[in-house]
Amino acid sequence: MSPPRGQRALFFSHTRKTFYMNAFASNTESGFSSLVIRNLVKEYAPGKPVLKNISLTFDKSELVAIIGPSGTGKSTLIRCVNRLVEPTSGAILLDGKDLVTVRGKALREARRSIGMVFQEYNLVERLTVMENLLTGRLGYTSAFNAWLRRFTAEDIRRAFEMLEVVGLSEFANQRADSLSGGQRQRVGISRAVMQGPSLILADEPTSSLDPKTSVEIMELLQRVARAKNIPVIVNMHDVELAKRFASRIIGMSNGHVVYDGPPAGLGDDRLKQIYGGESWLQ
Ligand SMILES: Nc1ncnc2c1ncn2[C@@H]1O[C@H](COP(=O)(O)OP(=O)(O)OP(=O)(O)O)[C@@H](O)[C@H]1O
Ligand SMILES: [Mg+2]
Repeated sequence: MSPPRGQRALFFSHTRKTFYMNAFASNTESGFSSLVIRNLVKEYAPGKPVLKNISLTFDKSELVAIIGPSGTGKSTLIRCVNRLVEPTSGAILLDGKDLVTVRGKALREARRSIGMVFQEYNLVERLTVMENLLTGRLGYTSAFNAWLRRFTAEDIRRAFEMLEVVGLSEFANQRADSLSGGQRQRVGISRAVMQGPSLILADEPTSSLDPKTSVEIMELLQRVARAKNIPVIVNMHDVELAKRFASRIIGMSNGHVVYDGPPAGLGDDRLKQIYGGESWLQ
C-alpha cells in the first residue's frame, strides 16, 4: 500500500536530500583545506608584472568571486594556482604544500587535488557524459586501467550519484557534444567534483550561459563549496551574480587586490575603484 500523496512527497524529498548529501560526501579524500597565496608576482614579459605582489588566504568552505576589468590578471591568478602558468615569484600553498616548487609526480598529484571549471566547459566532446565524469578519476587510475577505460565500481557508482545530483541521469550515455551549454557546465562541475578536490577554480563558468542557467550554475557551485567543505574560487564579470552567491568578493584592478570582503561592502565607490570611471554605473 503506498502512502498518501503528501507523505509520499515528503518521503521522496527526504530521500532525495539524503541522496544528495551522500553523493557529495562520498569523496572522502577531500576534507577541510586551505589555499594561501603569498607575494605572488607574474611577469609574462620581464619587468612588466601582470600580478603585482598578490597575497590571499582561502581557508573556508566558501564561494569566493574574483571580479575586475578585462586584462587585470584574474585568469593569470587562477592559472598560476594550478601551474598552467609559471609564477615569476611568490608562494602558493595548498594544504601546506608549495605549488610553485613542485615538479613531476608531485605536480601531477597537486593538480589532481585542484578541480578546474572553464567557460567553454573543456569536455571531451565525442565521449559520453558518464565517460567525461570518469575522466575526473583518471588521476587515481593506473595507466593500464585508464587505457582500457577501466574504472572501479566505486568510481562508477559515484559518477551515477553525481549525475543524479545535477539532474543529468538520463543523459549518462549521451555524447557531450549533444548537450546544451548549461548541461555541459553541470558535467564540467561534476567532473571537477569527481576528482575529490581540495579546491575548485572556475574561470568565468557562466559567461556563455543565459541568465537563468547562470543562476543554476552558481547555485550548484555554492552547494559544492558547502557540501565538500572546500573553497570554490570563481572569476566572473557579472557583479550582481557575484554579490548574490559569493560570501566573499575579491576585486582586482591593474594586477592588485583592491577589495577583499563581503558583498555588502561592495558599494559604488569600490566598484569605481575596481573598474575605473563611473559612467557605466547606473
Ligand atoms: N600567455 C600570455 N602571454 C603574454 N601575456 C599574457 C598571457 N596571458 C595573459 N597575458 C596578459 O596578461 C594580462 C592579464 O590577462 P588575464 O587573461 O589574466 O586577464 P583577465 O583578468 O582574466 O581578463 P578577462 O576578464 O578578459 O578574462 C593581459 O594584459 C594579457 O594580455
Ligand atoms: Mg580571464
